[in-house]
Amino acid sequence: GAPVEVDISKLEDGQMVRVEWRGKPVWVVRRSDAILEELGGHDSDLRDPSSDEPQQPEYAQNKFRSVKPEIFLAVGICTHLGCSPTYLPDSFSEQVSGVTAGFFCPCHGSKFDMAGRVFAGVPAPLNLVVPPHTFLDDNTILVG
Ligand code: FES
Repeated sequence: GAPVEVDISKLEDGQMVRVEWRGKPVWVVRRSDAILEELGGHDSDLRDPSSDEPQQPEYAQNKFRSVKPEIFLAVGICTHLGCSPTYLPDSFSEQVSGVTAGFFCPCHGSKFDMAGRVFAGVPAPLNLVVPPHTFLDDNTILVG
């Protein structure tokens, strides 16, 4: 499939745009400073906090799992059996107390934080996949 361009110039804190790449949903989320700070607070609850699993791209192997801290991209497909998790920008704390925002898979209850890192004790074995992407300029991302 062809690479897909995403314009993020109008993306506000907490907002997500969804695009399709190779038949898969790809999410682009702008994370606020508060969310970035929160990412540091629950490593011990995660299965693979530093994304050491070999199938993770190199630029996903940092604290934020992203090229730029504030912009997060993920393939919106649960690593369990392929449902699409729901983005909960405000009500994720009902799933994991103390964590404001994240992604919840309604199929079998897997939970992911705002870096797509899977919480321990749920069926999904791996963090959400970060798709290959590059920044063409400050406001344009090329996925693929
Ligand atoms: Fe997401 Fe099973 S497909 S938890």
